[in-house]
Amino acid sequence: MANREKSIELLNKGVAKEIETVLQYLYFQFHFEDKGYTHLAKLFKNVAIKEMTHIDMLSDRILFLKGDVIMKPETNIVYLDKKDGELDFDIRKILKIASDLENRTVDLYNDYASQCGAAGDATSKRLFEKLVEIEEEHEDTFDIEGDNYDRFGDTYLALQTIQRVQNNDEDGHEDIGMD
Ligand SMILES: [Fe+2]
Ligand SMILES: [Fe+2]
Repeated sequence: MANREKSIELLNKGVAKEIETVLQYLYFQFHFEDKGYTHLAKLFKNVAIKEMTHIDMLSDRILFLKGDVIMKPETNIVYLDKKDGELDFDIRKILKIASDLENRTVDLYNDYASQCGAAGDATSKRLFEKLVEIEEEHEDTFDIEGDNYDRFGDTYLALQTIQRVQNNDEDGHEDIGMD
């Protein structure tokens, strides 16, 4: 067997990255839900679920290599800034943070794939390459949303609010009439 320890270390770095990403996207999802932007809330939730499946894929490989999974996020979560005592909810900024996060992950996984290849572990290399493909799709999705927001601005937000009224309970959340 190739250099197991090296692969296990890289796969665990991947796990840490995915945990960080899940937490970051859930944080954004809560804020989008709170503001009534259902479409973006769902998008972040769905991508967070995808990232969870990546933790699963990486963990399977770690355990196959007889390592253990380290459940620790890689860095701190980026929180919304405060402006005049209020949270600064800036959609464009949030989409950029998400796109940049995916972009950094693509770079990391390309590097990890090369390192696994160099260590003679073709299966872990292929796993990272598969993840690169998916993370590139995520990056693209966040970029498209950002472009839509740039092009349509308030109309884009208004449409989301209308959509929310139409699909109220679709996400399992009841409208309990807080207003
Ligand atoms: Fe991922
Ligand atoms: Fe991703």
